[in-house]
Amino acid sequence: MYKELSMERGQAESDDVRKRTSLQTSIPGGKHYRTFTSLDWQKGAHLIVTDTPRQPAQRIWSTSARGIAITELARVSLQKSTVINTERTYRIVKAAVMNSAKLYSSASEMQHRDAAEAISRHVGAMTWLDDGAETVLDVGCGSGEVTRRLLLPVLPATGRIVAVDASEAMIRFASVRHRHPRLSFRTMDILDPHLKETFPHGFRKVFSFFCLHWVREQRIAMKNIHDLLMPEGEALLVFLASSPIFDVYEHMASSPKWSKYTKDYENYISPYHHSKTPTQDLKNVMIDVGFQVLNCETRDRVFVFNEFQQLKDAVKAVNPFLDRVPRDMHEEYLSDFLLESKKLKTKVQVNNGKLSAKYQLFEVLVKRVK
Ligand SMILES: C[S@@+](CC[C@H](N)C(=O)[O-])C[C@H]1O[C@@H](n2cnc3c(N)ncnc32)[C@H](O)[C@@H]1O
Repeated sequence: MYKELSMERGQAESDDVRKRTSLQTSIPGGKHYRTFTSLDWQKGAHLIVTDTPRQPAQRIWSTSARGIAITELARVSLQKSTVINTERTYRIVKAAVMNSAKLYSSASEMQHRDAAEAISRHVGAMTWLDDGAETVLDVGCGSGEVTRRLLLPVLPATGRIVAVDASEAMIRFASVRHRHPRLSFRTMDILDPHLKETFPHGFRKVFSFFCLHWVREQRIAMKNIHDLLMPEGEALLVFLASSPIFDVYEHMASSPKWSKYTKDYENYISPYHHSKTPTQDLKNVMIDVGFQVLNCETRDRVFVFNEFQQLKDAVKAVNPFLDRVPRDMHEEYLSDFLLESKKLKTKVQVNNGKLSAKYQLFEVLVKRVK
């Protein structure tokens, strides 16, 4: 059943993984769960399962996944491979996170506008300590503009922010660009099963803007946010429920020209994108993990890109596939992206060289009860 395990990030790690995995694959059934928990040191890994080493990946099991996220999926695949008695290759590759920090910092007007609105709508309604000595967490801070320019100014004067992101490139950029005595930046994956050990005191507030649609394992992420809060602590989470950009990812994934670069496109689509009841779905997740839901809404939003270059930059800044497309095909990819966008008549309109996109945004305010 177990054939080979290789990594793209160094032999030492690969040997380590191979040892642990071969040890555990000899134990049937649920014990596999523990196998892959032991991989949680492997930050932001994907687990790709193929039927033979030479075949392209059949499925990428998890995005920016670690620990439990990988664990559950790996257990399923291992059990399945026992049943059908097929050799399988497990390949761990680097995390899929956003890395275009500089571009994102200048091409994220839409995200900044929406974050600013959500902050002004909800931060005043949150409960703040009288002495203001709060340290809050910002999950998926990216290049740090929202953290520094929008969140820090609304905190009490002594408030501090720990801003985290799964992308090392983002954290490197943010910690230089937004150095500030009340800010600290560090790499962290919200799916990490050991967050409580990293932050034993927890936070009175958690914020997250335009990050959580990247996370397919919603329950794990929301449970982690819950557990990171102190009792009575609150979280304001703002992220995409649906967007035409996800429709374009889907369409391009079925195009012969682009499909080979976008096989894992499902990992980059909001888990609620096709839901007819996104608000209720998200509310259910929040209640299941123990939150009291103070506000959960899906807002219909429109953003107007004044020129195509602005749209291209915005797409480039968040697009997870472009890095895999040969550089001399980038312009062609972006042109096709634009063409596909224009076909989405109910969601995208073009007038006088301006393109307006309709999308849906979650704004969620929740409280940890105990
Ligand atoms: C679109 S940016 C948002 C940045 C900033 N919050 C803003 O509103 O402009 C999303 C960020 O989430 C990060 N991210 C994605 N998955 C993550 C995860 N599992 N844990 C932590 N950060 C993650 C990405 O690396 C990226 O920097």
